[in-house]
Amino acid sequence: MQHIISFSQVSFSYDKDNSIFKQLSFSIAPGEKVGLVGANGVGKSTLLKLLVGLEFASEGTILVKDTPVTKKTLPQIRKHLGYVFQDANNQLFSSTVFRDVAFGPENYGLPKDVVDKRVTKALSLVHMEAFADKPVYKLSGGEKKLASIASVLSMEPDFLIMDEPSIALDPKNRRNLITILNSLSMTKLIASHDLDFILDTCDRCILLSGNGIAADGNTSDILSQKDLLEAHNLELPLSYQYRAK
Ligand SMILES: Nc1ncnc2c1ncn2[C@@H]1O[C@H](COP(=O)(O)OP(=O)(O)O)[C@@H](O)[C@H]1O
Ligand SMILES: [Mg+2]
Repeated sequence: MQHIISFSQVSFSYDKDNSIFKQLSFSIAPGEKVGLVGANGVGKSTLLKLLVGLEFASEGTILVKDTPVTKKTLPQIRKHLGYVFQDANNQLFSSTVFRDVAFGPENYGLPKDVVDKRVTKALSLVHMEAFADKPVYKLSGGEKKLASIASVLSMEPDFLIMDEPSIALDPKNRRNLITILNSLSMTKLIASHDLDFILDTCDRCILLSGNGIAADGNTSDILSQKDLLEAHNLELPLSYQYRAK
């Protein structure tokens, strides 16, 4: 199967007595929009960290395209992956929005005119052109989230990885983010406890439970199964709760 990423028999634990994943296998094909759901503490953030090489599997192989994720291959694989942190404050560190969004392409040694074009494009994709010269500390929570996404998009990743993107966003900013994500065509993996957000942004959904995958399939098929979700300490998305009654 053609894949952009694949996990094959991956095991991981932070400490000996507490296994997070045992022999986890799945793959994601180019263009898929995949939601990663599961109760708190089940390992969603950990799975993303394994993928971007912030943690390393104790067994098994993780491939990004055809390259295994190892310490040595990190510079290479990170060219393909755009990882949006859960907390935008951890992603943004420059004086202005422009400087933050320019940081990645500058770091790759791209010429100034190419960097400028990348920044303009990335900011326009998240409708933040007017904020280029604003100091980061003056941004609202929603604006920081969009700036952090732009700082990843300026690297032109094939694959966008997001950890709890809707957390701390008010309804208007949350809706705005959904519209923006749906306008971006690259492959996506979005970890979230916000099942309505996943329903609105992802066509495939992976439900994680202790040590592995409890369900993997069409998002609306999985997120409409009340019993399945409740068995994994989740609730039906709000948009299905009304229909179920
Ligand atoms: N750096 C760490 N060291 C030790 N345990 C951790 C660390 N990070 C997360 N954990 C534990 O690993 C489990 C999975 O965490 P996490 O991946 O953050 O879950 P989720 O994102 O699904 O809420 C939790 O029990 C958490 O307490
Ligand atoms: Mg998490």
